[in-house]
Amino acid sequence: MALELRPVEWVDDRVRLLDQTRLPGEEVWLTLRSWRAVAEAIRSLRVRGAPAIGVAAAMGVALAALESRASDRESFLADLDGALKGLAATRPTAFNLFWALDRMRQVVEAHGHLPLGELKVRLVAEARAIHEADVLANRTMGRHGASLIPPASRILTHCNAGALATGGYGTALGVVRAAHEAGKVALVWVDETRPVLQGSRLTAWELVREGIPHRVIADATAASLMARKEVDLVVVGADRIAANGDTANKVGTYALALLARAHGLPFYVAAPTSTIDLGLPSGDAIPIEEREPGEVSQLHGILLAPKESPVFNPAFDVTPAELITAIITERGVVKPPSREGIHRLFTL
Ligand code: MRU
Repeated sequence: MALELRPVEWVDDRVRLLDQTRLPGEEVWLTLRSWRAVAEAIRSLRVRGAPAIGVAAAMGVALAALESRASDRESFLADLDGALKGLAATRPTAFNLFWALDRMRQVVEAHGHLPLGELKVRLVAEARAIHEADVLANRTMGRHGASLIPPASRILTHCNAGALATGGYGTALGVVRAAHEAGKVALVWVDETRPVLQGSRLTAWELVREGIPHRVIADATAASLMARKEVDLVVVGADRIAANGDTANKVGTYALALLARAHGLPFYVAAPTSTIDLGLPSGDAIPIEEREPGEVSQLHGILLAPKESPVFNPAFDVTPAELITAIITERGVVKPPSREGIHRLFTL
């Protein structure tokens, strides 16, 4: 097994981060010293995947605390507030971002009276705790998920919900990893995942590292594979799950869920409870990020569409809960997804 991959790390009061825009060609690690650099890395997908975004943002707030030259409490809190707002403005769909920023804000609220030096220590400790808890949650989720996977499974996944998308280990790919360790995985079908190709660039890179058998496919291939009975189940991650189980994930996920239903295949969502937004009753209210047209119309500067053609580039879509077989979390599996089942996760 490959060395454990952690795409974001807190090292010597800096954020060390694997630049995912350079994969799979190059493994470039960046050292970030300011919350603004972290915000830029999140916006430009150097770090991406909802849980990894949350971890990086929490570390961004910790950097903001260390960066601040304020000597009085009021100016220090104003500096932190600027960082919290700036980081919150990076990616609107990923709920873990807001969850993690909220945890950092709660530290400020609970310990705001402490000497500034001590408050800074608490903020760094909280960011590191968020990171560790995410890795632990993924491992637990992996075990829960693997128990649902039959032997010799051919599993289809979309986007990247692996170690790269989290603090480490992965959500959907964590389930695949745990199932592989249990000897249950015959093959992983990897959707390339247009427009930014997180599947072919990142998921395939992780599977190569782990020695897990896989084949990369164009997104449009899934239907005919299912018709030929070459897929046994689908497992994907999530960017935000509403209180009723409706799930936002990388654009194309909804189409896959419809295909899985049409072919009678299980469709699983794996996500930590930090992805669940109990404040939203259903998926209609999930904000969907729209990204630059160039992600669709160009590839490394080469035009894929006439430059005059307008583009629509939503980064995510919403899969209705009724198309989801089960939601796998670190606190247990909700099968089938229901408002009550999801609510129960938070009362455990
Ligand atoms: O735009 P991205 O690459 O951040 O989108 C990522 C996804 O859609 C993932 O599937 C999701 O965040 C879950 S990651 C564990």
